[in-house]
Amino acid sequence: MSPTSNPDSPVSAEIAAPYGSGAAARSAAIGGVPATAAKVRTHHLLAAKQAGQKFAMLTAYDQYTAQIFDEAGIEVLLVGDSASNNVLGNETSLPITLDEMIIFSRAVTAGAKRALVVADLPFGSYEQSPEQAIASSVRLMKEGLVHAVKMEGGAYYAPTVRALTQAGVPVMAHIGFTPQSEHMLGGYRVQGRGEMAQTMIDDAVALVEAGAFCVLMEMVPADTAAAVEAAVSVPTIGIGAGNSTTGQVLVWQDMAGLRTGKMAKFVKQYAQMRTILADAAREYGEEVRSGVFPGPEHTF
Ligand code: KIV
Repeated sequence: MSPTSNPDSPVSAEIAAPYGSGAAARSAAIGGVPATAAKVRTHHLLAAKQAGQKFAMLTAYDQYTAQIFDEAGIEVLLVGDSASNNVLGNETSLPITLDEMIIFSRAVTAGAKRALVVADLPFGSYEQSPEQAIASSVRLMKEGLVHAVKMEGGAYYAPTVRALTQAGVPVMAHIGFTPQSEHMLGGYRVQGRGEMAQTMIDDAVALVEAGAFCVLMEMVPADTAAAVEAAVSVPTIGIGAGNSTTGQVLVWQDMAGLRTGKMAKFVKQYAQMRTILADAAREYGEEVRSGVFPGPEHTF
């Protein structure tokens, strides 16, 4: 049973937009999706937490992965600034620009019909002031058509989260290991151990009080993450944060085995896409060189 047809699912049916150009009507026009097709909203994620249910998030950076993950029922798609590493080939997430994030966001929102699409505010696009954060988020929502933004940082950014939510921008807070601060944090290190657990709880509470609809925790000990999940009323999402969070997220190239090299401990590979693609490319190359492709069935 699909989450949209399951009456017990926190992600329940939604009525069609009461005006002609709503998203539900548009999806009916282009893909045969019923006009009442549900969209995952932030309140569905809250309902999942309240019902003791879990949800899944994956990164996506292009229309096909967005479409595939959306159709697979993944509730939230993250246009992560990890596109910097995983698409653009940079060593860190720092170089990616807001303009680049908007292009990836537009591709993902073109492919996704049901999932909630969240985009990262990239490094340098929000730190100066709440006004800068609003201007950047408005661009992500207006030009990238995303539904929410994710922002790295602790309680210090509570005023920015408040300003964003008051401006109509749903905010997913990202605490724990925050890759944009890699050089401050001294590399990829687990955050929130020992006495720092309380700081993490305080950060999460401050961000939620400011309006964050969700708190993402990266590389946090499981007991600290469980304490944060218990301390806040909104759902938390974990990546390397144990199994107590309401949601989980992985970078899709890690999840699907497209990336090679040493994987972080928290990564589970559900496929070997690199091998599948390499085999297909090798066979194609061989068939071209031997004259097997194109055959008569591929010829006008
Ligand atoms: O950019 C990203 O992919 C992320 C995830 C690691 C959560 O922030």
